[in-house]
Amino acid sequence: MTTTADRKQTAAHLLAAHGQSHIFAAFDQLDEAGQTRLLDQIDAINWTNLDNLVETYVKNKPLFELPDTVEPAPYYAKDPTGDAADKFAKARELGDQLLREGKVAAFVVAGGSGTRLGWPGPKGTYPATPISGKTLFHVFSEYLLKVGQKYGKPVPWYIMTSPVNDAATRAHFEENNYFDLDPSDVMFFEQGTMPSIAYDGRLFMSGPDSIVLNADGHGGSLKALARSGAVNDMKQRGVEQISYFQVDNPNVKCVDPLFVGLHALEGAQMSSKMLPKVEPREKLGNFCLVDNKMTVVEYSDLPDELAEQRLEDGSLRFLAGSIAIHVIAVDFVEKLNAGGDLALPFHRADKKVPHIDFESGQTVEPTEPNGVKLEQFVFDALPFGDTSIVLETDRVEEFAPIKNAEGVDSAVTSKQLQSERAGNWLEAAGVKVPRRADGSVDAIIELSHLTAIEPADLRAADLPAQIKPGTEALL
Ligand code: UTP
Repeated sequence: MTTTADRKQTAAHLLAAHGQSHIFAAFDQLDEAGQTRLLDQIDAINWTNLDNLVETYVKNKPLFELPDTVEPAPYYAKDPTGDAADKFAKARELGDQLLREGKVAAFVVAGGSGTRLGWPGPKGTYPATPISGKTLFHVFSEYLLKVGQKYGKPVPWYIMTSPVNDAATRAHFEENNYFDLDPSDVMFFEQGTMPSIAYDGRLFMSGPDSIVLNADGHGGSLKALARSGAVNDMKQRGVEQISYFQVDNPNVKCVDPLFVGLHALEGAQMSSKMLPKVEPREKLGNFCLVDNKMTVVEYSDLPDELAEQRLEDGSLRFLAGSIAIHVIAVDFVEKLNAGGDLALPFHRADKKVPHIDFESGQTVEPTEPNGVKLEQFVFDALPFGDTSIVLETDRVEEFAPIKNAEGVDSAVTSKQLQSERAGNWLEAAGVKVPRRADGSVDAIIELSHLTAIEPADLRAADLPAQIKPGTEALL
């Protein structure tokens, strides 16, 4: 049997070999549980790989070199005509069929730290809707309930959390009776972590028995789906496609039959939705073909001369911006994981990392970035597929993110967009909706997903003839 003393000796050698002996500075003063905790953390780290990462991403900043072969990726325009319209009709039929057959799962990545929003809990527990203040998780739950009702099959829902917010996320669902979903159709799993690294290459400690770890990015989801058993669960349920979305966008179509159908019709492995950028340097990743492979080039990596290029009609040549909505084939996730460690690139983020001082053991709350977090991004899996489609969507229809405490992409802008979308849908259903001179909706409207997840659902709804200016309408 391996004793703590044996483990300590092995770990001490390992740490010395990798220049990380400070991790053991207070080991002998720890109680048994603390020693075990620290030894387990040390065992979980791939040290050889870490040395490479420190060299590549921490001591150096990898230079991004855009290949010469970069082209804008083709995409399906949102309002198709002719053959494309026929294809959309077929795609919708196929998507509807896949939903009726229970072959589509919903997947939300909710492991982020939400630092910019500053909400003291998982972001999914943020009150997001304009009148009743339903949480983001509540909004998605109602969407999925409605899909289940429409298609006669529940949509299994996978929720990726992080070690920091897993318990609070589960508690939110427990306390709210799973928002009427069947708990057996809701699966939680934690994503992986990476050590946060000081600029000198040493790992930060949060206490004498603990290395500072950060969630490994939304790209970690592709590994976590397999490792957690979610992929196996999907296969047992007959799920073939995963509808991937982020936790901060209450207007997202958690499962979109047209998008799923188009992706399946084309035999794609991983597909994406896009928004036309409003200006060349809008902070959205750019859908490109690099060596003929679908690739997202981050806005900071697209040189100005390409970002500014325009077509004859004046539109941007690199128009398609990524809003982190994907459909991913289950067998693609399996394939990505087949070789063991999934080798997506890492992205470096300079961060202020609170820690204990390596020498004095005192707590340090830095005011300037003092180290690096390494994260993987889900869109870096796109080039691993053979086929990938991009579908245009509409900003008001599907993009109302809550990222910041105030200003752009905040709760205020999101609530406005939710209200605008509800106004558009009601108007299309014949309700008189008040509008200001600039065209914006002159009311606060909240439309539950239980009432409608798409405008056509409103045909069957009991609707008022009009909404009065300046009032609140909860439907
Ligand atoms: P963001 O890039 O907005 O990051 O995540 P964040 O951590 O939530 O927020 P900030 O940057 O600290 O303010 C986009 C989506 O990816 C998920 C988030 O939960 C969100 O749905 N995400 C991000 C993860 O699931 N895991 C991660 O490690 C990072």
